[in-house]
Formats: sequence, structure tokens, C-alpha cells
Amino acid sequence: MGLLGLCGSLRRDSHNRKLMMLAAASFGGRFEEGDLRLPLLDVDVQDEIGLPPEVQHLVEQIKVADALLIACPEYNKAPPGLLKNALDWISRAPGHVLEGKPVALVSAAAGRAGGERSQSIMRWMLHPLRAEVLTHPEVLVGHAADAFDADGVLLSERYRKAIDALMARLAQAAQQASR
Ligand SMILES: Cc1cc2nc3c(=O)[nH]c(=O)nc-3n(C[C@H](O)[C@H](O)[C@H](O)COP(=O)(O)O)c2cc1C
Repeated sequence: MGLLGLCGSLRRDSHNRKLMMLAAASFGGRFEEGDLRLPLLDVDVQDEIGLPPEVQHLVEQIKVADALLIACPEYNKAPPGLLKNALDWISRAPGHVLEGKPVALVSAAAGRAGGERSQSIMRWMLHPLRAEVLTHPEVLVGHAADAFDADGVLLSERYRKAIDALMARLAQAAQQASR
């Protein structure tokens, strides 16, 4: 099974990327991260030259992936523009590239709710793109700066168990979707 990860933070020491990598390890199989350093959406650009090559590459990665893992930070109680920009570009590709694609969300945030509001909005953002977003268990890591050790391992067993359970469901959904 091939898993594509998208991380909504570009920060070098991103807690969301750490979370994404832990979840990817739990999923097993092939993993690659999509690069969200895309140009800002500009429909004129698409009209003039088509989808920018970075976007086209991401779309191809999505098409071949069996499942998607999105690490969604919380900026001002909402997902970062980075992810919204990526979704809007993806929606401009011909066909519905996310249709039926199993997607799992994980979030880490400074607040104690672990980005709950952001992740909830992210679910709505994925809705029009027809992705099959897993509803549970929710992985919301609060007080993120204290949640990982120096090697990026999650200190709380509760969070580790939730990640394993979510990834097991994602693998199951990916298998069903590929039949
Ligand atoms: C612009 C901005 C807005 C933020 N808003 C929130 C917020 O609404 N809720 C929250 O829990 N943390 C918020 N934070 C703190 C982030 O959760 C924290 O910086 C987190 O580590 C970012 O994810 P990362 O480590 O993957 O980069 C905000 C941070 C930034 C830079």
C-alpha cells in the first residue's frame, strides 16, 4: 500500500510533521510526502499554461497513492492557507482526483484541544472534493511542544494507540478502495 502525506506546516521542527511520520510508520508500506510549496492559486495561470508543474506532480502523486494522510495544524482556529491552497489547486485538475480516496487527518497544536476546530473545518474543506475522510478515532495532540521526546516519539501512550487505530482503519479502507 502506498501512502501520501501532506503536512500543513513548513516549519523545520514541525510537530505536525513528526506526527505525520509516526502515523506513516504505523501505516507501514511505501510513504512519500507531497510538497505543498505550490504557487498561490491563480486561475489565469491555469488558463494560460495549464496546471503548474508542482501542482501536476502533486496530482499524479495523489492518483497513485492508495491513501492520504493529512497533518493539519491550527492557525487561528482554522487550517493553514497552505492546505487550502493545495486543495483548491487539486480541485482544478480534470476529473475528481480525490474521489473515493481514503484520507486520515492528524493534528498537533499548542492549545489543549490539539487543533480540534481546525481539523473539523478541514473535514468540511475535503467534503466537496469527494474524499473518503475517516471519522475516528480523532488524533488531536494538545500542548504539542511538550508532547514529543527529542527523537520525535510521542510521550503519551494514549496518542500512540489512537494513531495505530486510525492507521489500521486507513489501511483497511485503502484495501477496500483498491478492490
Ligand atoms: C499564525 C499562527 C496561529 C496559531 N493559532 C493557533 C490556534 O488557533 N490554536 C492553537 O492551538 N495553536 C495555534 N498556534 C500555535 C500552533 O499550534 C503551534 O505553533 C504549532 O506548533 C504549529 O504546528 P507545527 O509545529 O506543525 O508547525 C498558532 C500558530 C501560528 C503561527
